[in-house]
Amino acid sequence: EPNKFQAVISHAKEYGFIFQSSEIYDGLSAVYDYGPWGSELKKNIREYWWNSMTRMHDNIVGIDAAIFMHPTTWKASGHVDNFSDPMIDNKDSKKRYRVDHLIEGHADALRGEGDAAGADALLATMDQLLAAEDYAGLKQLIQDAKIVDAVSGTANWTDVRQFNLMFSTQLGSVAEDASEIYLRPETAQGIFVNFLNVQKTARMKVPFGIAQVGKAFRNEIVARQFTFRMREFEQMEMQFFVRPGSEMEWYNYWKQERMNWHLALGFSPDRYRFHDHVKLAHYANAAVDIEFDFPFGFKEVEGIHSRTDYDLSQHQKYSGKKLQYFDTEINQNYVPYVIETSIGLDRTVLYVLCESYAEEDIPKEDGSKDSRVVLRIPPRIAPIKLAVLPLTKKDGLPEIARDLMKECREDFYCFYEEKDNIGKRYRRMDAIGTPFCATIDHQTKEDQAVTIRERDSMTQQRVPLSEVREWVKLRTR
Ligand code: GAP
Repeated sequence: EPNKFQAVISHAKEYGFIFQSSEIYDGLSAVYDYGPWGSELKKNIREYWWNSMTRMHDNIVGIDAAIFMHPTTWKASGHVDNFSDPMIDNKDSKKRYRVDHLIEGHADALRGEGDAAGADALLATMDQLLAAEDYAGLKQLIQDAKIVDAVSGTANWTDVRQFNLMFSTQLGSVAEDASEIYLRPETAQGIFVNFLNVQKTARMKVPFGIAQVGKAFRNEIVARQFTFRMREFEQMEMQFFVRPGSEMEWYNYWKQERMNWHLALGFSPDRYRFHDHVKLAHYANAAVDIEFDFPFGFKEVEGIHSRTDYDLSQHQKYSGKKLQYFDTEINQNYVPYVIETSIGLDRTVLYVLCESYAEEDIPKEDGSKDSRVVLRIPPRIAPIKLAVLPLTKKDGLPEIARDLMKECREDFYCFYEEKDNIGKRYRRMDAIGTPFCATIDHQTKEDQAVTIRERDSMTQQRVPLSEVREWVKLRTR
């Protein structure tokens, strides 16, 4: 559904969800800004994640670590040596591509032409070659599939080489004193280096988890598909520390638990699937993705990884500090094993927007048809919960509306609007996903009630003014 995706991108911009960064300077590639409703939606998803991971679990606490970390962190974590991707350059256009993205793009095109079997075969071969780190084989695959560069139109490729994805900068002002540091490519390391600080100060007992939300940076070479692949993005990660030997049990637990979190948003279960990794990251002994069915196909939104004791052991080695836990139940000292859940906040916002977006025909009273664009965002994460709309700008209706706003705005986001006819106001609220609109009309002065119109069904019902606040709270939590 490429057209649907284009429609979602335009809609996201036109209605204040997502803008290209520095747009007046023609933008910065793969960097985006969230507008009024996008930032609200993003905040609501972040809060849903944060609350369900920390507040709903006795044994998970949160932290907020810095983006900058001691440079040795990235040596220990393996990112300096291993956080690279195989790339290939087109000799004519001088464009550089990540090999997997180039091949995936070609597979998508094959699928678009109806050759799903060809696409699957290509991806399966690619997975095998990536797992074997067979770069000559990958180049051969690109040549055999006759993949041409979109810019030059030629298939004149270089050899496949590795490039590191981390951004670096200088810490310190004078060149001689300055040391090179990295912008974190994942938030997880801030959790590992604080393992003992948190375990001791929060008096945690294994098994326990540490959660964190924050920015991560990767110098992605091919930046495609809007906010799906960005150079600056936000991760929501949780490291769960367990007794060695119990990791597979917890891996399966978190795999299901995280899928349940997605399903609780209320979209159809058939939009999600698990995808086991063939090529494991340098730190993992088991890994699975939760994929969502975007308009451009099933793609990763979250990873669940069994990271063994790799990270803590590495930090122990590089720092010379013991990162162990004394388990009083079995009278043993050990380096805990780790199950990680890592979800992209921007990708979650993107799938919510794609899945919520609908263009609908609606029958009018005179028998003709009207149409609307509606974002069926799950009410609990919708940017605005209630629009308060006085029917006219006079007769004391705005005053009643203002009083209702005052009563409700501490509990949830309300939006006041008195311009344009009521139909137009409903359309604007549909377009930004507001689940409920309360209209204050002349009748309100007599019966102390308002008409609440529901976004998805467009049905209306009378609700007493004094009950609106609880009525909306109940339906948006
Ligand atoms: N700590 C583990 C880790 O970082 P990952 O699979 O590389 O694992 C986790 O990233 C999640 O972060 C992904 O599932 C994805 O949702 C998000 N993510 C990764 N790279 C991204 C990018 N360039 N733009 C947007 N989101 C990204």
